[in-house]
Amino acid sequence: MGADRRAPRLDPAPPHWPDRQALVAWGRHLGASLAAAVAASAGASAVVTLSGEVGAGKTTLVRAICEGAGVPDLDAVTSPTFAILQEYPAPVGPVVHADLYRVRSPHELAALGWDEVMATAPLLLVEWPEVAAGTFPSGTLHLRLAHVPDDPDRRSVTVPAGVGEAA
Ligand SMILES: Nc1ncnc2c1ncn2[C@@H]1O[C@H](COP(=O)(O)OP(=O)(O)O)[C@@H](O)[C@H]1O
Ligand SMILES: [Mg+2]
Repeated sequence: MGADRRAPRLDPAPPHWPDRQALVAWGRHLGASLAAAVAASAGASAVVTLSGEVGAGKTTLVRAICEGAGVPDLDAVTSPTFAILQEYPAPVGPVVHADLYRVRSPHELAALGWDEVMATAPLLLVEWPEVAAGTFPSGTLHLRLAHVPDDPDRRSVTVPAGVGEAA
């Protein structure tokens, strides 16, 4: 209640323990509304972080967001093996997909040109955002994905309060 007043309103709210299909449907919806919001005002941008262990569904959700945002080549949306940053052309401009799993320090992050990415990407989707904590603008949407005990086909999606934003 008022704890995270600056977080964007999520409409619809994340589904409760979605299966893959429900997660993807929600992600498409989210991608479409983020792209619409970015397109609606000049200079606007949107940042989404996705935390959670390996297999939690981060890349699955990134791909769904990209689909909703109109990225035509969804096969390109993968967990990058070498590339830490990938760019996918979209109507809203390049969607940037960062996977910071292998980035060990804020120094390494800066060397990647992180400031530039944050300043220019109209839509930025970040897996393993922990190393970049403190660099995200207010209004960043932080999502946490997790496995559900005893149900391999479902995941939980939560919006943790107060993570990673610049003071
Ligand atoms: N409800 C679900 N939501 C998302 N992924 C699911 C779900 N159930 C099973 N899966 C599977 O879990 C895996 C998630 O992989 P991925 O999206 O690459 O995760 P991460 O990027 O977090 O490592 C995929 O193989 C996907 O098919
Ligand atoms: Mg991944």
